Amino acid sequence: MHVPVLLNESIEGLNISPGGVYVDCTTNRGGHSIEIAKAIGHTGTLICLDLDQEALKAAEERISSIPNAPKLHFVHSNFRSLKDVLKNLSIERVNGVLADLGLSSEELDISKRGFSFRFDEKLQMTFNSHPGEEDIKAEDIVNDWSEESIADILYGFADERYSRKIAKGIVESRKEKRILTTQQLVDIISRLVPPSYRHKKTHFATKTFQAIRMAVNDEVGSLTELIDSLEDVLVSGGRACFITFHSTEDRIVKQKFRALKDSFVLVNKKAIVPKKEEIINNPRARSSQLRIIEKV
Ligand SMILES: C[S@@+](CC[C@H](N)C(=O)[O-])C[C@H]1O[C@@H](n2cnc3c(N)ncnc32)[C@H](O)[C@@H]1O
Repeated sequence: MHVPVLLNESIEGLNISPGGVYVDCTTNRGGHSIEIAKAIGHTGTLICLDLDQEALKAAEERISSIPNAPKLHFVHSNFRSLKDVLKNLSIERVNGVLADLGLSSEELDISKRGFSFRFDEKLQMTFNSHPGEEDIKAEDIVNDWSEESIADILYGFADERYSRKIAKGIVESRKEKRILTTQQLVDIISRLVPPSYRHKKTHFATKTFQAIRMAVNDEVGSLTELIDSLEDVLVSGGRACFITFHSTEDRIVKQKFRALKDSFVLVNKKAIVPKKEEIINNPRARSSQLRIIEKV
């Protein structure tokens, strides 16, 4: 089961007013939402978004049954459309927004959507658990994108130092046979990077998988649009909390927050990081950082 990261810190960061209206943009199975729901109480409203239908359904079952639950809305939507979601619910503004970015432990380990280089699965990598034919998948990127575009995402989204080499190798390899599985991709990368890189503590395919996943889900575009919508969706004094897991995400949050400085203040100058005990109990938390802003 996914263990929520920086849970107390983010709930505290939202500064929840009982009876208020809050949005969890990345509900998954409700690890953060359930605590937000308890703090809001039955006079408030909680809107839970996620692209993963199964996870959202599990969250609905879990949160609906708590005593004193607030009014709940579970919406299968990309958080980039937050403004439209609220409009459809006839909600003008909200008191707080949480986004715990990236993917859950279940998505990584058991979804069979090809997020992990540890398993042999089809190259899909969509957060949407039932993507349409027209939705882009990891398989499309590695087989149909140009060498230059692949190199650009490897470098731009994950700072992969062997971006050009890996992109060239992918394009060479697909001439012989279409790349359909995670293990085919791992084998290709392993033949291209030097032994010193292959034997590092961090797996040599980590950055390539991260970059492809980010491109499949247009993670930079979604995050940028979400932050851009905050000015319109938050009440004065409303807060937004963002939990990031790698430097590309954190850089975007930091830059976008800086751009909002006329109408928002930073609640903490520095990002909040997990305590030692949290990292020991949940190693997935080790790279997490929480940034909070408040609308003035
Ligand atoms: C790290 S998990 C959230 C875990 C949750 N906070 C908890 O502790 O139980 C991130 C979730 O965000 C979802 N997600 C990622 N990008 C999204 C987007 N653009 N719109 C909606 N959901 C998204 C993923 O499907 C995943 O369920």
